[in-house]
Amino acid sequence: MVNYKDLGLVNTREMFAKAIDGGYAIPAFNFNNMEQLQAIIKACAETKSPVILQVSSGARKYANQTLLRYMAEGAVEYAKELGWEHPQICLHLDHGDTFELCKSCVDFGFSSVMIDGSSLPYEENIALTKKVVEYAHQFDVTVEAELGVLAGVEDDVVAEESHYTKPEEVIDFATRTGCDSLAISIGTSHGAYKFKPEQCTRDPKTGKLVPPPLAFDVLEEVEKKLPGFPIVLHGSSSVPQEYVDIINSHGGNLPDAVGIPEDQLRKAAKSAVCKINIDSDSRLAFTAAVRKVFAEKPGEFDPRKYCGPARDEMTKLYKHKIIEVLGSDGKAE
Ligand code: G3H
Ligand code: 13P
Ligand code: ZN
Repeated sequence: MVNYKDLGLVNTREMFAKAIDGGYAIPAFNFNNMEQLQAIIKACAETKSPVILQVSSGARKYANQTLLRYMAEGAVEYAKELGWEHPQICLHLDHGDTFELCKSCVDFGFSSVMIDGSSLPYEENIALTKKVVEYAHQFDVTVEAELGVLAGVEDDVVAEESHYTKPEEVIDFATRTGCDSLAISIGTSHGAYKFKPEQCTRDPKTGKLVPPPLAFDVLEEVEKKLPGFPIVLHGSSSVPQEYVDIINSHGGNLPDAVGIPEDQLRKAAKSAVCKINIDSDSRLAFTAAVRKVFAEKPGEFDPRKYCGPARDEMTKLYKHKIIEVLGSDGKAE
């Protein structure tokens, strides 16, 4: 049993309270490897932004749970080495789907876990979430829950259609489960194909797809029911067209990839949405940089020569998100 406090990590409670008061959102960036983690920490240290490092169960399988934990501990030390005096770093399980997985992460030094019972019937979601909350709170680990279904792929869970969160359920759900934050469904989804072309319009000048707006009316209803309660947005990558273009013009094939426009996320960050999840954009930045090196220097076979540029591109992306979209810069000196 390792407690996250011994690793220099923090839970989400204070981060979220400050973010709601200050009208900004905490970045929740997924990581699977060293380069992503280095880029996240460098970007956050340079901007003094609190951060949530997210690990999915797929990431845990890919990277090994022991390594990931030591990487998070190392991240705190690396942040200090970069001159960030008081790093505010949370290690969070993304989309935990069983009590056992959440318990194992709590026992392994995570400071926050998500129990995603969103695909279960309502009462089962409540029972599972409550069980995780009761366990995690003994160790001051915070718990994110989910109500409503996002379209797309969440590890092994695939949903064809999204179902918006029902605002009339949120008070009952938050009260009975005791969760610390709630992920809601208002039209975002995971991955690089968030909307089908037929759901979008086309910009007549550029020919690019323009997605429909998020359901801010649902978010406002939720905020009215639970004033000041931390709300989470999953599936919040913007799928930057520049990365899609680089990938497609250097041997890739991402037809009609489309994400959430950044102005929508800026608006969300000013509301009770205090955690914004971004994974796909980092994957796109990484892939664009690697494809470019491979296309321009076919003789290159030193991984540092293509993972290095990928890391630089991700650092640029994370800083952009922090400063230009979420507004979390300067919030953790
Ligand atoms: O929710 C999805 C995240 O982007 C994690 O993705 O399950 O492929 O690691 P993953
Ligand atoms: P994206 O696929 O939009 O990056 O969403 C990531 C996410 O929600 C992780 O839980
Ligand atoms: Zn998610």
